Amino acid sequence: MNARKLTLGLFVALMVMGMQSCGQSRPENKSGHDLWLGDITVPVEAPYKVLLDQYDKELGDEGFRIKSNDKGVAVIYANTEAGLLYGTYHLKRLGECGDLNLDKEIVEVPAFKYRVLNHWDNPNLTVERGYAGKSLWKWEELPGKVRPEYEEYARANASIGINGTVLNNVNADARMLSREYLEKVKVLADIFRPYNLKVYLSLNFAAPKHLAGLKTSDPLDKDVIKWWNDKVAEIYSIIPDFGGFLVKANSEGQSGPQDYGRTHADGANMIADAVKPYGGIVMWRAFVYAAESPDRAKQAVEEFMPLDGQFRDNVIIQIKNGPVDFQPREPFSPLFGQLEHTNIMAEMQITQEYLGHSNHMVYLHPMWKECLDSDTYQKGEGSTVAAETLGKVHGNTQWSAIAGVTNIGDSVNWCGHQLAQANWYAFGRMAWNPELSSEQILDEWLKQTFTADKKFVEPVSKMMLASREACVKYEMPMGLHHTFKGPDHYGPGPWDRSSRPDWEPAYYHKAAADGVGFDRTSKTGTNAVSQYHEPLKSLYDNAETCPENLILWFHHLPWDYKMKDGHTLWDELCYTFEEGIKEARGFIDTWKSVEKFVDPYRFQCVYDRLVRQAKDAIWWRDATMLYFQQYSRMEIPSDCTAPQHTLDELRRFRLGISNYETPALDKLPEYTLE
Ligand code: GCU
Repeated sequence: MNARKLTLGLFVALMVMGMQSCGQSRPENKSGHDLWLGDITVPVEAPYKVLLDQYDKELGDEGFRIKSNDKGVAVIYANTEAGLLYGTYHLKRLGECGDLNLDKEIVEVPAFKYRVLNHWDNPNLTVERGYAGKSLWKWEELPGKVRPEYEEYARANASIGINGTVLNNVNADARMLSREYLEKVKVLADIFRPYNLKVYLSLNFAAPKHLAGLKTSDPLDKDVIKWWNDKVAEIYSIIPDFGGFLVKANSEGQSGPQDYGRTHADGANMIADAVKPYGGIVMWRAFVYAAESPDRAKQAVEEFMPLDGQFRDNVIIQIKNGPVDFQPREPFSPLFGQLEHTNIMAEMQITQEYLGHSNHMVYLHPMWKECLDSDTYQKGEGSTVAAETLGKVHGNTQWSAIAGVTNIGDSVNWCGHQLAQANWYAFGRMAWNPELSSEQILDEWLKQTFTADKKFVEPVSKMMLASREACVKYEMPMGLHHTFKGPDHYGPGPWDRSSRPDWEPAYYHKAAADGVGFDRTSKTGTNAVSQYHEPLKSLYDNAETCPENLILWFHHLPWDYKMKDGHTLWDELCYTFEEGIKEARGFIDTWKSVEKFVDPYRFQCVYDRLVRQAKDAIWWRDATMLYFQQYSRMEIPSDCTAPQHTLDELRRFRLGISNYETPALDKLPEYTLE
């Protein structure tokens, strides 16, 4: 029996149990498949829609206006079918959230032009860093068999304004560009088209070699250029509105232009020239780093700054929110504030690679917003990451874009954790309007997904809003980063070893007898601080002024360093972990307190995971602090939760899961929550 059947079986069993054991007031069981749409199988119809005869500049190609007519009925106006579609979903949302007020005219226009999901899905159905089952795309069945989920997926994206999707992993299999696969991709593109959702592909830079047997994939070689031009022409003959390519080149073993002594610009421009006549774009990733570098956090700036101004205008450099890799907290990537003559976009991770996979409830919008709202000071105050990527700082708004590495798989509830759907929803809403607050987006999602009852929405909203900060506290507080167990990135492993130094936690935490933290200061460290503009550079450079939630990102400090509240660094770490543990425990109580508002099936799914999340919080603390204790020789304060395992026990613990799975709740270390 496959995982999907099992899940369905469990669902049906719980439905029966739910019906037998619960009083009438409890809502009926739902699998979570309908997402926030009520019934995902039904398209939403708005009664009055008007396609404008004269192009309304204010609305552009995707915006809409909602006004009431003389009978007091809402009418949606737009220049395009896409605008009408988005207006329809907006109206539905307002209605369901109780926010519909037709006294005023409503005008909505998306902030980012390209609002794109990145799937890290492979042709063999595995999903890199995917924690919601296997790939949604059943390549072996396509193009013949079409699943209803494909259209449901498009509908869900349309409802939140997402207008592009990269179907395959950035570690790309060259086969995706073969005729055989393009015919499969076409089927999806045809299904997505009415929902204004464009299809993009990740490409393997060595495809000319792998697919066509050319001797080289050198981007300046004329046969290679011709091959790409022909390939792109073929793609557009099959999928006329194909969006373009996402490229991971010369990163983590992927091939790229540097294999031939060429630059990222040479590589990106070759592809950009090929797609340009068709209106396509190239999203070229800045996620590059080499094992030899003394500081991985500096490398994107070092590699891309010399190329500023050399990229074609339809190339957008896709930059992860932080300079390392989707950690629970990083400062924003300094590259956002460096490039001046190059289009840039942010890449956020919706899938929770480093934040507890689909076992932990972590509402991620506050983390993304923290990045978008960060001021780079590139052109003085107000040069936020949002303004930079919207093209407002350098006047290149035509290419504004944002990407989210999706958490979607073939699990019945799409995202693994019932509450992780909020992150898919939040990404779309944020891409549409980055000014929306975390509270507002969550409020909308909760009301549409569960109930609008305040007694449910208020406590659950409070719990979810606190969850990202709680996760930082129980996993890696105060600027610690990458203390994970590899290669699954689930759970702590500060002692872990790897084939590369920069894949080892010790490279990042640098715990030793003299203290802990990565010295990135100007005088004694790697001088990564110099990649930030003033006043940030000085602020981060000085331990006294560095925000304490990033202090160990920028500083290596003695264990008895005095923090602002008077605690030693050691005690502060212990107490911050403790807060994280306490908060994670509190989430269970909150969830229990709203039991009657949630159907038994979804209640139990979330409850079981919250219990595991709280246990994992203690596991993180035990592992990290007992490991650090070997160096600090200091005691865990007696008013903190007592460790339940010894360092030796934790070191011996092995998960035995592959990269692609979320560990089963009962396969993790034993912990009791008294
Ligand atoms: C992380 C992740 C990889 C992924 C990479 C990327 O390092 O662990 O699985 O391929 O990011 O973003 O390319």
